[in-house]
Amino acid sequence: MPDLDTRAIHDGEPEPRVEGAVSLPIFQTATYTHDDPDDTVRYVRYNNSPNHEALHEKLASLEGTEDALVTASGMAAISSVLMTLLDAGDHLVAPATLYGGTLDLFDVSGEGPADWEDALTPNTNVLYAETIANPLLGVPDLEAMADFAEAHGLVSVIDSTFASPVNVRPTDLGFDVVLHSGTKYLGGHSDLAAGVVAGSAEHIDQVGYTLKLLGGMLDPQACFLLHRSLKTLGVRVRQQNETAQAVAEALDEHDAVDRALYPGLPSHPDHDRARSLFDGFGGMVSFELVPDASVDGFFDALTLPVRAPSLGGVETLITQPIHTSHKSVDPAVREEMGISERFVRLSVGLEGTEDLVQDLATALDTSRTVE
Ligand SMILES: Cc1ncc(COP(=O)(O)O)c(C=O)c1O
Repeated sequence: MPDLDTRAIHDGEPEPRVEGAVSLPIFQTATYTHDDPDDTVRYVRYNNSPNHEALHEKLASLEGTEDALVTASGMAAISSVLMTLLDAGDHLVAPATLYGGTLDLFDVSGEGPADWEDALTPNTNVLYAETIANPLLGVPDLEAMADFAEAHGLVSVIDSTFASPVNVRPTDLGFDVVLHSGTKYLGGHSDLAAGVVAGSAEHIDQVGYTLKLLGGMLDPQACFLLHRSLKTLGVRVRQQNETAQAVAEALDEHDAVDRALYPGLPSHPDHDRARSLFDGFGGMVSFELVPDASVDGFFDALTLPVRAPSLGGVETLITQPIHTSHKSVDPAVREEMGISERFVRLSVGLEGTEDLVQDLATALDTSRTVE
């Protein structure tokens, strides 16, 4: 099989090219002629324009699944999958550390299989996980989770947004359905919203039907942007992995940093697991400033990272989870999780590694000299 970079560029492209266009044009039309009653009905909400079909094939190839589909956002992917797999009264098991939007959708039950045996009910149908958990960047025992799901006849669903298919293909670990917020690494430029669902043809068919009824399709313009971005996914993510490693090491050594968290650091509690499961450790780094550092002084002194939520773009983004992803979490629970006001999350972009390391180091130095 050709490698991921080759597939990202060539798979799913129409042959012959449309009107000879090397880049697939945007089919900015809501509907398609239907002169022959035997033809498939093409309509924008059905997610079956040439822009959608090319993307679906490319994404399935990147995830190593039979099929894939795109949605209007990551949350549209998550909600469509759950609405497909769960009926009224059904139940799922999931770890307590998940993306906040997802957490708001359901109650959770412990951190992993050890807690789940007791949580199972006759109506439990789904196991839900994430490859890398926000913001402590923990890597759960994904293989044990997939095995648990299989042993109990559950459909295993995983949100792999933080890792991207460059760093791990969760169906290789036994998961059935893979989700992404395409707004992050897949889009990669902080300029679109999208979601992805990948899995067997049967699961994708079922989710596609739900999506058609809920109306959460991706519009052709965003399809074009996502398609364009996927062609550079490999080079972007590998560079982000490399820069994040250098940034994490520099943070770890700086005396204004209490602790640096990155799965690529040997000090990270899940380093060994991440090393065995992933091809790369990702572009997300978290750290906590020492108690006598000025958080405002640190943020004010930065010149490169942009203070904004979200992740996976070309520009380094920086946030305090207490003001963004974990704003709605009870402060006592946050404290217990180790997420204080001094806790900072970084989505490493594609700036020069040295420039970024230097900028962070200067701001850290400043954080200890201002009131
Ligand atoms: C891990 C994860 N999953 C899903 C989502 C939701 O994606 P979207 O904002 O595209 O709906 C996010 C958003 O931050 C996320 O971080």
